[in-house]
Amino acid sequence: MLRVGVMVSGGGTNLQAILDAIDAGTITNARVEIVISNNPGAYALERARRHGIEALCLSPKDFPDRAAFNRALVAKVDEYELDLIVLAGFLVRIPDELVEKYERRIINIHPSLIPSFCGVGFYGLKVHEAALARGVKVTGATVHFVDNGMDTGPILLQKAVEVCEGDTPEILQRRVMEQAEWVILPQAIDRIANGRV
Ligand code: GAR
Repeated sequence: MLRVGVMVSGGGTNLQAILDAIDAGTITNARVEIVISNNPGAYALERARRHGIEALCLSPKDFPDRAAFNRALVAKVDEYELDLIVLAGFLVRIPDELVEKYERRIINIHPSLIPSFCGVGFYGLKVHEAALARGVKVTGATVHFVDNGMDTGPILLQKAVEVCEGDTPEILQRRVMEQAEWVILPQAIDRIANGRV
């Protein structure tokens, strides 16, 4: 059984998609052991607790400096003996120490077809604003392994989504979530849990 930790910062719809897929049996051989948020107000924490999953907040604001926060984050991950860390809308930079220790055991969902609209400054709604400003006709989502760069790790899965006439960033964000993110993130976890990567 793959021991999974999910890191979140906001609403947690991707977390919900993972929990639903485990309940539905479309993810097998995996269990979410812990949900960690940097944001105490993240609705994702509530989603986890309602599901009977341990959920906690580790915020950089509660530590004297970033190094102390990083140490606490690594210690927490170690404590739960996780096989896989899933960044599901986690908007904090992952410490290099964690990346090195958990090489190819950390995955991230990004709401575009990498290498478009990714890297520093591209997160959440900003990604969709940029895609609309550029006038692309197709966008999508990517699941990739996390390395020391920003959205630069090896790509695991991608799914394309059409941009439609009259889209706003919010409408496009929702379509990308429904048609791509909530599909490929559970798929990626199932593949890893069953040795198909
Ligand atoms: C998702 O769209 C995810 O792809 C994005 O944040 C959102 C979180 O939503 N992540 C990034 O932009 C990372 N660069 P959620 O909390 O409802 O899952």
